[in-house]
Amino acid sequence: MFSKKHSNSTNAINAINAINAINAINAINAKNATNAINAIHFLKTLLKLYNIFMITVKERSGKVHYVEGPREVRAILRRLNILENTVLVVKGNELLTPDRMVEDGATIELIPVISGGMKCRVCNETAVIGIPRHNAAFCKGHFKEFFKKQVLRAIKEHSMFKRDDRVLVCVSGGKDSLVLWDVLTELGYHTEGLYIDLGIEGYSEKSKEMALKSAERLKRRLIIRDFSKECGPIKDVARRGGRTDCSACGTVKRHYFNKVALEGGFDVVATGHNLDDEASRLLGNLLRWQWEYLGRITPVLEESEGLRKKVKPLCRLTEHEIATYAFLRGIEYIVDECPMSKGSTSLLYKEALNRIELKSPGTKHYFYQEYLRSAVKRLSGTVAFSTRRCSICGMPTSEEVCSFCRLTERFSKVS
Ligand code: AMP
Ligand code: FES
Ligand code: ZN
Ligand code: ZN
Repeated sequence: MFSKKHSNSTNAINAINAINAINAINAINAKNATNAINAIHFLKTLLKLYNIFMITVKERSGKVHYVEGPREVRAILRRLNILENTVLVVKGNELLTPDRMVEDGATIELIPVISGGMKCRVCNETAVIGIPRHNAAFCKGHFKEFFKKQVLRAIKEHSMFKRDDRVLVCVSGGKDSLVLWDVLTELGYHTEGLYIDLGIEGYSEKSKEMALKSAERLKRRLIIRDFSKECGPIKDVARRGGRTDCSACGTVKRHYFNKVALEGGFDVVATGHNLDDEASRLLGNLLRWQWEYLGRITPVLEESEGLRKKVKPLCRLTEHEIATYAFLRGIEYIVDECPMSKGSTSLLYKEALNRIELKSPGTKHYFYQEYLRSAVKRLSGTVAFSTRRCSICGMPTSEEVCSFCRLTERFSKVS
């Protein structure tokens, strides 16, 4: 499982650890003042002897390495003799940049960007990514071409928007929406960005910075709406309104997406939802037979009275492909998941689908595409439409006051 070099160095570490352990025992016996610290160190050392308190590094090939931490991703790769730009480093669902620190006890996974031995389907050069569901592999240039073709195909297949339409790209600072903005701009569409500051501590600042960097790079306008200034941090608003963080956040985002699009005369609102998002949402709603939501998991929500058209041009691409595209294009984005969404069920469904996908490539794509092709029209009758206008903000709603106004009305700091 290990190369000889690695197993030798692991043995050397273990030998040093063993000496440390003996020293720690001696210290405990001597009952000196540092006994407690030594005891903890001893326990850690013992665990390390059995690779329990080390960083576990898994390769796609099944190889496993153990590295002592805490250590930067860059240093871990150097130690394993792996070139930084040949792999994506992932911890759970998080993509780690080379400067990220990894703690002892953590498990990280290396996903090859340069797939060993695979050749590009188009030019036969060394491939940077394999796409098992298409039974294909591509070099850097042809992967970017493949990626753009998938985006164009989604736009055309679902009649998302036309060449001259003004597209409002909602950007969160994460990889999906920033890649979407990048690719649509590269394809020549008229794009502007929208960032909503929700006042999430330790997260919003950084994500806004990433959105601003993209705007600068693409030379496109970024509209910033500061919800936290208007109503306070989303967490407080959600608590006072008796709502969960994510549901309040969703209500606020939907409201601003539509409001800014209407005010700014945009033809369409684009979000960065990808194949993993859509397939996992479909699975979640199916598991609970939520008929009223099932019919809405579509790449296009058509325009209706007071509501701008909403589209998801990345619906044919997976998170992994989007991360690779971001990497190859040098797009900077916030890697951390939103702290309020930790432990959400959607992550569980994504993981379940990824496990199935690994054994049976193409399942995720088939599950979602077949739903769109044959199931969704049978569900159209289950979707409820808003027929009234909110008495406060005038947005479409099914009740007297819309859910955004009910959530924020009493807490708005500005009129
Ligand atoms: P999420 O609901 O967080 O999975 O985000 C879904 C999509 O909504 C993203 O891909 C973005 O297009 C958009 N989005 C999320 N957060 C924001 C934000 N703070 N500002 C603008 N757009 C956002
Ligand atoms: Fe909405 Fe985190 S961004 S809950
Ligand atoms: Zn090629
Ligand atoms: Zn309202």
